[in-house]
Amino acid sequence: MGDTKSFAEAGADLELVGIQKRFPGFTAIEHLDLTIPAGSFFALLGPSGCGKTTTLRLVAGLEDPTAGKILLGGKDVTSLKPHKRPVNTVFQSYALFPHMTILENVAFGLRRRKIADPLGKAHEVLRLVELDHVADRKPAQLSGGQQQRVALARAVVNRPALLLLDEPLGALDLKLRRQMQFELKQIQQEVGLTFLHVTHDQEEAMTMADTVAVMNKGRIEQMGAPEELYELPRTVFVANFLGQSNLFLVDVEGGTDQVIHTASVSGRISLPRARSERDSGTMTVGVRPEKLRLHAAAPPADANVNVIGPARIIDVSFIGVSTQYTVEVPGAGDVHVFSQNVEAGPAASLGDEVWLSWLVEHTFGLADDHLETGALTADFSTQAIAAQAVSE
Ligand SMILES: Nc1ncnc2c1ncn2[C@@H]1O[C@H](COP(=O)(O)OP(=O)(O)O)[C@@H](O)[C@H]1O
Ligand SMILES: [Mg+2]
Repeated sequence: MGDTKSFAEAGADLELVGIQKRFPGFTAIEHLDLTIPAGSFFALLGPSGCGKTTTLRLVAGLEDPTAGKILLGGKDVTSLKPHKRPVNTVFQSYALFPHMTILENVAFGLRRRKIADPLGKAHEVLRLVELDHVADRKPAQLSGGQQQRVALARAVVNRPALLLLDEPLGALDLKLRRQMQFELKQIQQEVGLTFLHVTHDQEEAMTMADTVAVMNKGRIEQMGAPEELYELPRTVFVANFLGQSNLFLVDVEGGTDQVIHTASVSGRISLPRARSERDSGTMTVGVRPEKLRLHAAAPPADANVNVIGPARIIDVSFIGVSTQYTVEVPGAGDVHVFSQNVEAGPAASLGDEVWLSWLVEHTFGLADDHLETGALTADFSTQAIAAQAVSE
């Protein structure tokens, strides 16, 4: 990508302090405390209707909070008009001016604010998104992905301290979307601005952001680096919304300083104390599908390994890089196992009786003392869970 030095102006910290937003008869945001450090790529991830757009509109100044403060670079901007805030937004529908050239679209905001050399600056940012060669075309002559990059250039050229992205890749097909995710991340790293990206697509959030906040019904359930959220979810919602999980309802039976022992209908399950939100009573424990191993016979007892079985394979799906097995575990419903295809041919077949094992250290203990009905057997896709959340 081109010379971007003059765009390497630092972003600003964003702080949301005790934000609440009520619409007549509906509370969209319960209570939001959030600090996004300058220069970070932050993703707000949650199902449709959880309050993501409302959060962005509050930051942009298009809505007033019912309670709370918004600070940008340490300065209280809560009562500033939208155009006075150093914030730009890229929406899902990028709404370029159809009659203007790409160059004029990008220069538009600079001209309006009477910034010197608008065309020079527009060319510079078009080089950044690798579209300077189409500067003289009209938007209709570009592909969807290219138009998206123009929309991004049009926002970045204003050098906002904070760039808000509201599902900006939603209109693109899957392949283009993956490519744009990569490019968007590169651009963010080059310009060093603060990006607040909202999406309902967990893969998009995980691949792009350095920090992900998982939002559910107007609250942040958990926040952290993608790996951290994936390896150690703290609630049933996060365990199921971010990737897939196998969850078991268990009763704590005791343990040691290091480990909690639990009993479930499927057998004894142990987990590290440090990876558990609870240590007594009824709780939910989980393990990710790629951590499970299949065995044709009960593996020998080992204090570091959890074993359940016998169970039966009721579905085998060959995905290419992996094979996904659905295993019916008496009393626990369906358990999913992802097995990498390092050897040719499946390790187990439909109808086989199997035992499942995984390392105690891969088990996590959730804050919930119950499993939502269907959490084990329902369609695990983000879309389906999002739809469920909306119809509640
Ligand atoms: N102007 C409004 N009046 C009443 N309810 C609203 C308004 N704007 C948003 N909502 C409600 O607030 C909730 C959150 O909406 P939104 O922030 O758009 O969610 P998301 O972007 O996560 O899909 C939804 O239930 C929505 O219907
Ligand atoms: Mg939205």
